[in-house]
Amino acid sequence: MLSASMIYEIKPIAEEHISGFRATLDAVARERGFLSFMEAPPFEQMRSFVLNNIKERWPQFVVIVDDQIVGWCDVLPNLRRTVSAHCATLGMGLLPEYRGHGIGRKLIERALHAAFAFGFKRIELTVREVNFNAIALYKSVGFETEGLHRKAVLIEGDYENTLSMALIAEQ
Ligand SMILES: CC(C)(COP(=O)(O)OP(=O)(O)OC[C@H]1O[C@@H](n2cnc3c(N)ncnc32)[C@H](O)[C@@H]1OP(=O)(O)O)[C@@H](O)C(=O)NCCC(=O)NCCS
Repeated sequence: MLSASMIYEIKPIAEEHISGFRATLDAVARERGFLSFMEAPPFEQMRSFVLNNIKERWPQFVVIVDDQIVGWCDVLPNLRRTVSAHCATLGMGLLPEYRGHGIGRKLIERALHAAFAFGFKRIELTVREVNFNAIALYKSVGFETEGLHRKAVLIEGDYENTLSMALIAEQ
């Protein structure tokens, strides 16, 4: 059960969320255990990225608790090649204290619904092989493992494998 302080909202990202989104992304990146980058991009770069996502109406959601951004999920197109215009990549994260309360499930369900409504037919992602919670969540919403990328990540001298997973729209 969520405590009263964990009453949250999931909203499409808006300009006023950019700073909070960047801070949350940065915090999760700096944990080093989950993402493919170690810090958030500079603010201006982040701002342009988010404003473009809003303009293009690509699915990008934030989780808000007490006016603070505590998580995000986006589903953004890959290479803008004609043959892969139906493909998009999902990324998500929550600040540590908000994990394990069912928020991630609600968030990914909302983002996938928006992604399929937008017209994407194939949602892809890459996840570290040892990120068991994330993998369990992805499988539970229908993602299937498509590949193992051996030693794809190197952090402070340690290699990690990653998995590529994908979810295909029913029609
Ligand atoms: C991955 C993440 C987004 C999942 O969100 P969450 O709110 O913690 O997950 P939920 O509480 O909604 O749980 C959803 C499912 O995930 C799995 N899961 C989550 N936490 C788990 C845990 N501690 N132990 C086992 N399974 C867990 C379960 O399958 C769970 O299914 P259930 O609803 O039937 O119990 C979140 O843990 C997170 O931000 N992790 C760090 C960043 C990250 O890994 N991002 C993804 C990079 S690819």
